[in-house]
Amino acid sequence: MTSVVVGGESFALRDEGRGPAVLLVHGFPLDHTMWDAQIEALSSRHRVLAPDLRGFGGSVVTPGQVTMARMADDLAALLDALGVTEPVTYAGFSMGGYVGWPFLRQHRQRVARLVLCDTRAVADTLEAAQGRRAMADKVEAEGAAVAADAMLPKLLAPGRAERDPALAQRVRAMILATDPRGIAAAQRGMAERTDARPDLPLLGVPTLVIVGEHDAIATRGEMSALAAEIPGARLVEVRGAGHTSPMEEPAAVNAALLGFLRAP
Ligand code: MLT
Repeated sequence: MTSVVVGGESFALRDEGRGPAVLLVHGFPLDHTMWDAQIEALSSRHRVLAPDLRGFGGSVVTPGQVTMARMADDLAALLDALGVTEPVTYAGFSMGGYVGWPFLRQHRQRVARLVLCDTRAVADTLEAAQGRRAMADKVEAEGAAVAADAMLPKLLAPGRAERDPALAQRVRAMILATDPRGIAAAQRGMAERTDARPDLPLLGVPTLVIVGEHDAIATRGEMSALAAEIPGARLVEVRGAGHTSPMEEPAAVNAALLGFLRAP
């Protein structure tokens, strides 16, 4: 683990390997360790950068509301601080994909390739946004266990927690270790995000779309519609996985990533 100070604020990250840079952006309410298996698999040929977003893991916590656009600017500043000037492969899982949309709008020249993993382009409905704000208030009042209880059943494939209690425990521990103010601020930020679907035909970068067969948050149907809007995008469905496909089926996700990164 490394930490980098950007504008007086500290961000934690794993920075492993050498070669073309791959930026792995975690989901909610998780941290960079969700990518452990991918860091291991990719770092023999790539410089793998896996940061903790603002409010998560070992990074600075900003209470209130943190927008996806702010997180995107944090990532660009982090790349500057690390001296990464060449365009990277941006791989965003779920909320990491939501951060990818403003990253592409604000820092387009930094992206050589794009991986969208178990993520969505649509904005929240009014009802969903209200639900997020209510959860944010509750997490601030009662702690991260509120988020763990609400999210865990939606993260893993049906039956996965029973078959692999160690994985369920790992995900739960990751959520419980997250600062409640960071969880709340990101929830409020996600509630504000805009519809990214108009961007899809214009992305202009090689794109890989990965979806867990049983993803309950970014469903197969929704992700195949998303992939169909991106010219030339490749869609990989991960058999047996739920939302957290990189953790549930790391070998299949690693194979998809390595194949994509190897392609000309
Ligand atoms: C995530 O995995 O990042 C979240 O499930 C995203 C969301 O709550 O929409």
